[in-house]
Amino acid sequence: MEKNESDIIALKEENRQLQEKTVNLKKTVKTLRRNFQGIVELLAETISLDNRFLGGHMKRTAEMAKSFCEFLKLPKDIIYLNYYAALLHDIGLVGTNSDIIEKITEDLSDNDKKIFLEHPVLGFEIINSIYSLKRIAAIIKSHHENYDGTGFPDKLASGEIPIEARVIRIVNDYDINKFKLSLTTKEACSLIESKRGKFYDPELVINFLSFISHFEQNNKGTAKSINCEDLKPGMYLNQDIIMSNGLLLIPSGVILDKAMIGKIQSFSSMLLGHGLIQVTY
Ligand SMILES: [Fe+2]
Repeated sequence: MEKNESDIIALKEENRQLQEKTVNLKKTVKTLRRNFQGIVELLAETISLDNRFLGGHMKRTAEMAKSFCEFLKLPKDIIYLNYYAALLHDIGLVGTNSDIIEKITEDLSDNDKKIFLEHPVLGFEIINSIYSLKRIAAIIKSHHENYDGTGFPDKLASGEIPIEARVIRIVNDYDINKFKLSLTTKEACSLIESKRGKFYDPELVINFLSFISHFEQNNKGTAKSINCEDLKPGMYLNQDIIMSNGLLLIPSGVILDKAMIGKIQSFSSMLLGHGLIQVTY
């Protein structure tokens, strides 16, 4: 065999081995990603079991943070990091009394206020103990920092606060304004705007206000009760989907995607409400 020919064969073999390694590496990355998602989703479900309001708040915040990041055209890895950090951002409140979760901070006792102030650090410590979630832990720690440096726990200001935490800060407060303070969309937005540059990143607030009008407009329509077999991606969920054991499966206020519909349909026989789901489309 000529030298050139044997070189080509060796090169082909090298190429084949490289391709095989790439395929295996992709499989490993996929498995690691699935494990990572599994851990986060398991933690989120555990939180829902502990307090339904908290579970709903964190799931809605995660969905909205993801949509907002997509609107901002942030890189895919940042979008997912943000989604998972938002899904766990209040994990430090798990196990506290329901007043701390369901009442506004001004109405809390001094002791409950103290516990509330500790929850970002507590959440950081819980999540930071899991190696693959360390980046999420840092975001959780900063989700109550104020843009002007008056927040907690570290009094970080402007660019010192991770972008993901600045996004979650706005979306978190918008959800609280709507679902805890029962404000209308307009009132919830005005409250966010009034703290622009104080609590919130001023640029992000401008983007958020355009995003939310777009987001809410897409969700306008008449609410209807339909059978869970007739759910379609893009429908807006008007009610919490609750299982007969009290577990919150999907919170209200999200836009249904294929995965969520699959989840609802596979648990249809175990849902409260005889399989009828209130949606807007
Ligand atoms: Fe929080």
